Amino acid sequence: MMNDLYNQVLKLLRPSSVAVIGASRDPEKIGHQVVRNLIRSGFPREKIYPINPRAYEILGLRCYSSILEVPDKVDLVVIVVPARIVPKVLEEAGKKGVEAVAIITSGFKEVGNVEAELQLVRIARKYGFRILGPNIVGICDTIRGVNASFCQDLPRPGNIAFITQSGALAIALVGWTRLKGIGLSDLVSIGNKADLNEIDFIDFFGRDPYTRVISAYLEGVTEGRRFIEVAREVSKKKPIIILKAGKAERTIGAIRSHTGTLAGSDAAYDAAFKQAGVLRAPTFIELFDWALALAKAELPRGENTVILTNGGGAGVMATDAAEEWGIKLMDIPPDLKEKLRKHMPPFGSTFNPIDITGMAGREWYKGAMKELLLDPRIHSIVVLYCHTAITDPNDIADAILEAIRETDVQKTVVASFIGGEEVMEACEKLTKNNVPCYESPEKAISALGILYKYKKHREKLSKQTMVHLNVDKKQAYKIIKRALNEGRYSLTPSEAAGVASAYGIPVLEKILTNSKEEAVKAAEKIGYPVVLEIESPQIIHKTDVGGIILNIKNKDELLKAYDEIVVNIRNKAPDAEIRGVIVRKMVEKGKEVIIGMHRDPIFGPLVMFGSGGILVELIKDVAFRVAPLSVEEAYDMIKETKAYTILKGFRGEKPTDIDSIVDTLLRISKLASDFEEISDIDINPFFVYSENKGGIAIDIKILLERKSDH
Ligand code: COA
Repeated sequence: MMNDLYNQVLKLLRPSSVAVIGASRDPEKIGHQVVRNLIRSGFPREKIYPINPRAYEILGLRCYSSILEVPDKVDLVVIVVPARIVPKVLEEAGKKGVEAVAIITSGFKEVGNVEAELQLVRIARKYGFRILGPNIVGICDTIRGVNASFCQDLPRPGNIAFITQSGALAIALVGWTRLKGIGLSDLVSIGNKADLNEIDFIDFFGRDPYTRVISAYLEGVTEGRRFIEVAREVSKKKPIIILKAGKAERTIGAIRSHTGTLAGSDAAYDAAFKQAGVLRAPTFIELFDWALALAKAELPRGENTVILTNGGGAGVMATDAAEEWGIKLMDIPPDLKEKLRKHMPPFGSTFNPIDITGMAGREWYKGAMKELLLDPRIHSIVVLYCHTAITDPNDIADAILEAIRETDVQKTVVASFIGGEEVMEACEKLTKNNVPCYESPEKAISALGILYKYKKHREKLSKQTMVHLNVDKKQAYKIIKRALNEGRYSLTPSEAAGVASAYGIPVLEKILTNSKEEAVKAAEKIGYPVVLEIESPQIIHKTDVGGIILNIKNKDELLKAYDEIVVNIRNKAPDAEIRGVIVRKMVEKGKEVIIGMHRDPIFGPLVMFGSGGILVELIKDVAFRVAPLSVEEAYDMIKETKAYTILKGFRGEKPTDIDSIVDTLLRISKLASDFEEISDIDINPFFVYSENKGGIAIDIKILLERKSDH
């Protein structure tokens, strides 16, 4: 199946023959431009088949009135007729037995014509071909040299694939990437994604020998689970960089859990990208800067970085940026300092950044670079050049390249040449020769930062431990089913505790009582001090209505509290049905954290961890991952929060039992994966005690999916 997809996409992007249905005689029309661009891109004329029932000839090529008349085999069909004619010509393409069709035509789902678009997919399924589009710019491939699009020119050839959901952006970026010296293997406009989507192309480019980096502009992913699975596999082989636009909330209606409030749609994308090893670019500037670095430079073999500069200021800027990126600037060992002294004036600096001063010309740059390249303790070099009146930037670029060539060492080298127009040629030369060069020190550092980040992602992806957990699924199902049968969408506190216990989550024992006598008995069984809590399906935030009373030390206090809690509910929530009063132990306070789950419509269960307490929504110190979680992912999400600093022992405090949080996160992940009926889980607070003392869920809330809302 996968090989089928690979071969079909190959025919689509790198065809040997192309038919253009809607090839117009009018030079102003897109159908004409597609044929003209194909010819211009050097595609063999005898393999281009213009289709137009009203024309005999277009741009010197013979026209056919239908694709069925073409005597030869056709790999790719490009459709440029108005929307109402598309189904008819698509049927004909199917009868011809083609495998790949690109539909440039607009006027489908993007303007509400959903049914018309579904019809296209039905035709494709009937004949077994794949569709790209509709609503795209066409096909732009530099490997075979195919411009079957209305992009004026092909991008520069290269090894970066670019997938874009915006067609206009595709056209605009062709010129921009040319200017920046960025080479693309393919430019794929995916349009409405009626059939083939970004995941199919990530999969294809993952296997494509001509592509080294996959970049994409996306507004949304349609198949969340598949996206993570495919992207994760591809990221192990080559980097994926995505610019995801559109951060607006997708969740409509009242959000009823803390986790739900904190988990905007963007949190799900962020989590999914992290888990799939995808690098997320904030703007298309970084998207291509990073793509260039990953396409050209070697991945660093270790963490020791050295900055070489001819200007103090550039060195300082690079140092600041390195700190932000967590790049380790190595202390230069004395023996190397001595060697470097030979390549600078007496007032130069052998500290890191190494400043060979504004006097540095070709020889000093080359000499210093050679020392750094040959020293096995150094893994990455950032070479900076500020343009001066006494040096020729082309000489400096040559010096750097000669040093690399002569030492023949495979090391990570990135550069920044500062000086605008005057250094452009030199900068381009470096980039062309696999030393990605940027206009500012910060950009060069960001490029190096991304190389390190990708390296780390790749290492992480290769070690993911999934654990088997023993749980009582039947018991949890019994409780959930009962609630659903009663038409309820939230579990009562004791039901929620029951579900959590069935999944091995440590929960505070809660005894439901229906009279003062029962409450006294329960308190005596558990032992004072105790807490009283109202049990009512309608009350979700108990504190707000006085539905919880803490630290009850004896029988007298208990009897008083029992009356008080009932009165509170009668006054503040008169319509709430009281199912009884819960008695539970007043436990020692641990470090408060929140653990939760919110089901995302695209990616599924999104597990949350963060700082707990009543200010949770204000502090927003939270991290998310998509279930099912590996042990490493659970640890990672804890480490991502500020809470981690406190949990591991802040200012002499004892470290806490972080393993108990990891275990609970894994169990929540399993619970959410096992029951699609659960929409949200909040454990707030979860008390964590000192190392080896475990943790306990104090309050647990479980909400169920409102199927009728779908
Ligand atoms: N088979 C082949 N060609 C046919 C045909 C058929 N069954 N029926 C008609 N044609 C021919 C027409 O005669 C015409 O050729 P001519 O100019 O030589 O007469 C040609 O196909 C195009 O048809 P026309 O009706 O003139 O359409 P158009 O060129 O005005 O518009 C589209 C067609 C596809 C460009 C237009 O509908 C569209 O979707 N434009 C938006 C494209 C876009 O922006 N895409 C997204 C980018 S991000």
